[in-house]
Amino acid sequence: MHRATFPQVRVMTKKLYIKTYGCQMNVYDSERMAEALDGYEQVNSPDGADMILLNTCHIREKAAEKIYSELGRYRGLKEANPDLKIGVAGCVAQAEGEEVMRRQPLVDIVVGPQSYHRLPELEAKAARGEKALDTDFPEEDKFEKLKTRPKAQRGPTAFLTVQEGCDKFCAFCVVPYTRGAEVSRPVARVLAEAEDLVSRGVREITLLGQNVNAYHGADGGETWGLARLIRRLAEIDELKRIRFTTSHPNDMEDDLITAHGDCEKLMPYLHLPVQSGSDRILKRMARKHTAAEYIRLIERIREARPDLLLSGDFIVGFPEETEEDFQATMALIEAVNYGQAYSFKYSSRPGTPAAERAEVDPEVAADRLQRLQALLTRQQKAAQDAMVGREIDVLFEKPGRLPGQMVGKSGYLHAVHVTGEVAVGQISRVRITESGPNSLGGTLL
Ligand code: SAH
Ligand code: SF4
Ligand code: F3S
Repeated sequence: MHRATFPQVRVMTKKLYIKTYGCQMNVYDSERMAEALDGYEQVNSPDGADMILLNTCHIREKAAEKIYSELGRYRGLKEANPDLKIGVAGCVAQAEGEEVMRRQPLVDIVVGPQSYHRLPELEAKAARGEKALDTDFPEEDKFEKLKTRPKAQRGPTAFLTVQEGCDKFCAFCVVPYTRGAEVSRPVARVLAEAEDLVSRGVREITLLGQNVNAYHGADGGETWGLARLIRRLAEIDELKRIRFTTSHPNDMEDDLITAHGDCEKLMPYLHLPVQSGSDRILKRMARKHTAAEYIRLIERIREARPDLLLSGDFIVGFPEETEEDFQATMALIEAVNYGQAYSFKYSSRPGTPAAERAEVDPEVAADRLQRLQALLTRQQKAAQDAMVGREIDVLFEKPGRLPGQMVGKSGYLHAVHVTGEVAVGQISRVRITESGPNSLGGTLL
């Protein structure tokens, strides 16, 4: 008998390694880039990859410089596999453009945050051996060009960009230049993407924007603010939790404050950066609000939601910051009491107005940062310790390090671990019994 033999057919899926730096929006963008590159599967290591993409951040000098040392490490991989394509995406790509390829000739593709839907064309160009660069701010909506989220194999939480860019031009910040002008996605698109995520098992969505509370999405002839969008999203039955980040104090409108009190699915956590507690410095930063206005705003939000956990961002050592200015920041922190915070030493960024000004002595700035972080750490620990004894809901996300352990997040964004039978994606009641260095421990009720 003659048996036909078939040649072994192997579907050639190329391997894509993406490394993500910077903010949550970059995490979201990395997912979308992976989705844009059909024919690639994402892998967890650069070894053996056919394409390496660095999704970069330009916010501070250290963040940007890290990219070049990382790129240098890929020299050996490129020598071993000349077909390997190396791409730089994100805010360094936008800010430095062609300069990236000049500084590091290993780079084949440079693509900005507003043009990454064109990655397939750029990849084809790179495959022909040409350098491919796109840092346009195109007319078309990049999200329009991308499909829904078929590749997304995800846990129960997801990010969803609803607004992008910034028109605030704080004197220290590169974001208005790297992300461009403020743009909101239309309501229908946001709702469709949310429904799609929820149908894939997502139970918590964090709405993203550089100025997310400035959201003004079109719905036919109407314009929706963020609060209305949140209330509409809350009608999706299987969506259990909603968060948003990052907000600017000046865009914290009344209905958004009210929503913190009456929208049950909106979690009791708010990231509301203030940067400094000195009016003199706030003015030089072009923040367009005073310390007292910020404190009053926090009071109003806490009237709506007394258990709100507040998070902030601080910059120390901004040009011309005196010890007195710094003490005003410390006093603001004492007055507000933060449950979470991020603090940075000022980093001069090319092209921003503050870059022209005289810098604070780096040692003085480092000392202030240390004192400020000590205070913030004390407040964060106190907020976490205060959870002990409370009964709270936890959304479970993944198995923990120990056998039988599961880890999830509280509404206040604390990590919580328990031992017991609970599924990923489940929300369960937990009694908090201990407060560790980075997480809470509890028992299932
Ligand atoms: N509005 C955006 C800001 C993104 S940058 C958002 O809030 O998500 C995040 C934080 O980085 C800022 O709030 C600020 O505290 C810090 N930052 C921005 N530019 C900086 C600089 N030049 N030096 C030090 N820290 C900076
Ligand atoms: Fe940067 Fe200020 Fe815009 Fe935030 S609000 S992105 S800090 S310019
Ligand atoms: Fe960085 Fe760009 Fe985000 S500069 S913080 S990756 S918007």
